[in-house]
Amino acid sequence: MKCGEILENHLLKTDYYRIRFYAPEIAAKALPGQFVHVRIDENSIHILRRPFSIHDTAPDGSVTLVYKVVGAGTRELAAKKSGDICDLLGPLGTSYTPAPAGTIPVMVAGGYGSAAMYMLTRTMPNPAVVLIGARSSADVILDDVYQAAGCQVKIATNDGSMGHKGFVTELIDEVIAENPGRDLVIYGCGPKPMLVALGKIMKAKNLPGELSFDHLMGCGVGACFGCVVKVAADTPEGWAYARACKDGPVFDIDKCYLDE
Ligand SMILES: Cc1cc2nc3c(=O)[nH]c(=O)nc-3n(C[C@H](O)[C@H](O)[C@H](O)COP(=O)(O)OP(=O)(O)OC[C@H]3O[C@@H](n4cnc5c(N)ncnc54)[C@H](O)[C@@H]3O)c2cc1C
Ligand code: FES
Repeated sequence: MKCGEILENHLLKTDYYRIRFYAPEIAAKALPGQFVHVRIDENSIHILRRPFSIHDTAPDGSVTLVYKVVGAGTRELAAKKSGDICDLLGPLGTSYTPAPAGTIPVMVAGGYGSAAMYMLTRTMPNPAVVLIGARSSADVILDDVYQAAGCQVKIATNDGSMGHKGFVTELIDEVIAENPGRDLVIYGCGPKPMLVALGKIMKAKNLPGELSFDHLMGCGVGACFGCVVKVAADTPEGWAYARACKDGPVFDIDKCYLDE
């Protein structure tokens, strides 16, 4: 079997697909929160690689991604069949730090952010609480997978079609109330407005944790500076630029600069 060979690629739900590649070197090294940069088709006019979080790895050398079809690149990926080959670069970027023993890990995921945190739940000393947020039930993914892994899953949708009606960040107080006297560690991945709201709650309530900031990417390896995000820094402005692909995408809450 060749590295990058697709083992399976199938529709999960609505516009979301699960794809499994044979990539033993990436599978052996990947840490929770890291991503791969995928050259979907050598012959395509879309020459830029596309970044995807590593959803899971397995001892058989496979690497699984979960992706949403949003444009030309992901449409091309969805059309790929078992046996086709993509060029994968990775694992790239920083990873989440496992929560200390005795704490309760709380994962807060928006949309395809659910894909990024599954590996982390596998490394946790305690079962995680997973808060999944989406616009509507059509965008709630992997809730069954987290449940099967023993996590407590809570869902929020903007239109109320599944779980709590409102923002996923509104579920944090519920988790705090259900776990009196316990230390929570928060992990976030999702759209920027969700991360900013979550980060502000973490700072206000003094909750430790890490957030993953996705950004449009060029090279993916720290060379082009096409992916810079603001991070908190000891500068007159209070911030400096960091590369989401190499200094991130996962940043400690103390490093996060929460502009809108
Ligand atoms: C570190 C990282 C991890 C990611 N993990 C996943 C994942 O696990 N699953 C998944 O489905 N997607 C993930 N993405 C987003 C994914 O890379 C984009 O959706 C993809 O590149 C779009 O390619 P496209 O050619 O289909 O769409 P394009 O034609 O390039 O874009 C279509 C639309 O999507 C928007 N878009 C493109 N990239 C992003 C992005 N990074 N964030 C927000 N909007 C974007 C564009 O602005 C445009 O509106 C991740 C992105 C990063 C940076
Ligand atoms: S994408 Fe090139 S430096 Fe981050």
